[in-house]
Amino acid sequence: MNSDSTARETPKLDASRLPRHVAIIMDGNGRWARKRMLNRIRGHEKGADTVRAVVRATREFGIPYLTLYAFSTENWQRPDTEIAALMTLLKRFLKSEQPEMLENGIRLNTIGQVERLPADVRETLEAVKAATAHQTEMVLNLALSYGGRAEILWAVRGIAEKVKSGALDPDAVTEDLLAQHLYTREMPDPDLLIRTSGEMRISNFLLWQIAYTELFVTPTLWPDFSKAEYMAILEDFQKRERRFGKTGS
Ligand code: FPP
Repeated sequence: MNSDSTARETPKLDASRLPRHVAIIMDGNGRWARKRMLNRIRGHEKGADTVRAVVRATREFGIPYLTLYAFSTENWQRPDTEIAALMTLLKRFLKSEQPEMLENGIRLNTIGQVERLPADVRETLEAVKAATAHQTEMVLNLALSYGGRAEILWAVRGIAEKVKSGALDPDAVTEDLLAQHLYTREMPDPDLLIRTSGEMRISNFLLWQIAYTELFVTPTLWPDFSKAEYMAILEDFQKRERRFGKTGS
């Protein structure tokens, strides 16, 4: 016990034990709005502010990969007005963040069926990807029109084509080879997956990649998620013993 009981310990992160890749299921924008009798879209707008803060914090912490579940394949079933608002927010976010991404060495990447997005959003995504292509400090990986099963299926189809053409021997189809056919082929698997708003579900996110990922579910709704809570989750992560299926000794 600290001799001065009012003194609060400053949270400290061990730079040598930071996750290399953090993935986040950003949930609860709708509930945040409903609690305030606001339109759901206001919740997404506030959620976009949290995205900005979390990207900035990730860069400050020195974590090199951040994947955000921004739009799932299932989200196409939402009302057209909500989909349009999410697309507008995404475009606005990309345009407003580009200068800071360039300043801070952040490269934009996307995973998912990006070809399903409206042309103007695709154009903005391509422009920011091209502008940030040579940044090397951090990757901001946006999952857009993303589904984990669809991703695995796409990888399996790619492999099947190669086997069919004779370019690949079925015996050479290993876990590593499958991983090399996923959207995430150029990044490490997530070390930490955070989900906001308390739901104990994976919701078709990075199904292959999270086999040994540490999970953290917080009841906080995404618009209320803060840098301080992010820091506390990272501290918790650093206390966990990761065994990857082995014993602890
Ligand atoms: C879940 O809240 C969130 C989403 C479906 C999309 C996430 C989008 C943002 C954070 C804003 C824009 C994104 C970027 C990258 C700028 P929900 O609507 O499912 O919440 P609910 O479960 O409470 O209804």
